[in-house]
Amino acid sequence: GKDIKNICCIGAGYVGGPTMAVIALKNPQIQVNIVDINEQRITDWNDTDLDKLPIYEPGLKEVVEETRNKNLFFSTDVDTAIDNADMIFISVNTPTKTYGKGKGQAADLKYIELCARQIARVSKTDKIVVEKSTLPVRTAEALQGILSSTGNGVKFEILSNPEFLAEGTAIDDLLIPDRVLIGGNNTVSGKEAKNALSSIYEAWIPKERVLQTNVWSSELSKLTANAFLAQRISSINAMSVLCEETEADVDEIARAIGMDSRIGPKFLKSSVGFGGSCFQKDVLNLVYIAKSYGLDEVAEYWDQVIKLNDYQKRRFADKIIKESYNTVSGKKIAFFGWAFKKDTNDTRESAAIYVADHLLDEQADIIVYDPKVSEERIYADLEYLNTHSSEEIRNRVKVVSSHSEAVNNAHAIAILTEWDEFKAYNWKEIYSKVLKPANVFDGRNILDKEKLVNVGFNVYNIGK
Ligand code: NAI
Repeated sequence: GKDIKNICCIGAGYVGGPTMAVIALKNPQIQVNIVDINEQRITDWNDTDLDKLPIYEPGLKEVVEETRNKNLFFSTDVDTAIDNADMIFISVNTPTKTYGKGKGQAADLKYIELCARQIARVSKTDKIVVEKSTLPVRTAEALQGILSSTGNGVKFEILSNPEFLAEGTAIDDLLIPDRVLIGGNNTVSGKEAKNALSSIYEAWIPKERVLQTNVWSSELSKLTANAFLAQRISSINAMSVLCEETEADVDEIARAIGMDSRIGPKFLKSSVGFGGSCFQKDVLNLVYIAKSYGLDEVAEYWDQVIKLNDYQKRRFADKIIKESYNTVSGKKIAFFGWAFKKDTNDTRESAAIYVADHLLDEQADIIVYDPKVSEERIYADLEYLNTHSSEEIRNRVKVVSSHSEAVNNAHAIAILTEWDEFKAYNWKEIYSKVLKPANVFDGRNILDKEKLVNVGFNVYNIGK
């Protein structure tokens, strides 16, 4: 197969950064250039202070420290990186469209198309182009169309290589993946390209874990994986509602059904609802694709996963209001956590945003503490919804740098993210600072309820 000496990755985000850092770590003979049009992001990736990297992931800074400026480089010079590369990963964002046809559902592929046009314009030698971003099934066809329209004799082989890492455990997931998936054409050059990419992964991953499929199966596998994962969360959350009505306990149910080997124990944790940049976007995209083929029953089936998740977030906010004597107006609600899950600074689609927004509708004052999320990020997340003015948001929402600051005279505490440190707090001391009755709404079911009740708190869980 073809020997890859130089890799370019377009997009230095949550996927491009960690993925390429690990590829560079395990393939010291390959030069890896990560490029992005976001200058601030590239500056942050190059910061000598490794605590200033733009992404927080356990273990990431160690990998970057070992590889950066040896065989891993961050730059804004996209053209040069494309020109020098044998293989180009496209890792740009593919958000839900916010305008026009498919608004609110379809994936917005404008960033992908821009990349393809730039690759077509700049390339002087043959390239393998790898779809690392999550894309609708049959996007490779559109890419091929754009790339082969240059007419300058350069050949492009397109592969699909979706990323299955989870934020918060990205480095471990990359080092020991359940599998790596590579889709490509079954032509001679297609197979060669698949093997070239495969050999990069085989530097540290057993060959039998590197799957090769046709390109369409690979594209659709990623959407399917996220749809199944999101569906499991919505399924257990649906049961949590029923539990709250019947004195069944959702964690006991999860344990009981999880021991069934056909079901398995993972992803059965009930919560305030899933967030993150991928689940909602990818399920909505699947709904849109199904509809576009006229498959309304399929579309409705998956759409319900999103509806249940919206309901779960709304239900949590409503519970806080109800248990606060039906009004939170002018009351301080302390939020523990803003990130969409623990061990990441990513807040995209975080449940906290929607719970806060709903409480703002009721004129609550919200005090947020999150160990990794910045004040500006929190304001930007709320402003992005366009439901409350920037002025109102900055008046009502305060961001503090410690949990003890957040709880002073609070009417309620709401757990929005499952950060480990929340469990270890001195809850006696917290109790002494909050207003009574002292209400804790544990949106992640992480706290020791008995202990908190003994301290004097009323504890409200999900599904109990
Ligand atoms: P991100 O938003 O963190 O990073 C994307 C980067 O691409 C941004 O820094 C942006 O400035 C850059 N970019 C956009 N257009 C560009 C262009 N024309 N030239 C150069 N740079 C450009 O997004 P993230 O989270 O890394 O996701 C990327 C893709 O990976 C998405 O399709 C996503 O669905 C998929 N994915 C994400 C996972 C995650 O956990 N975040 C997991 C698996 C897949």
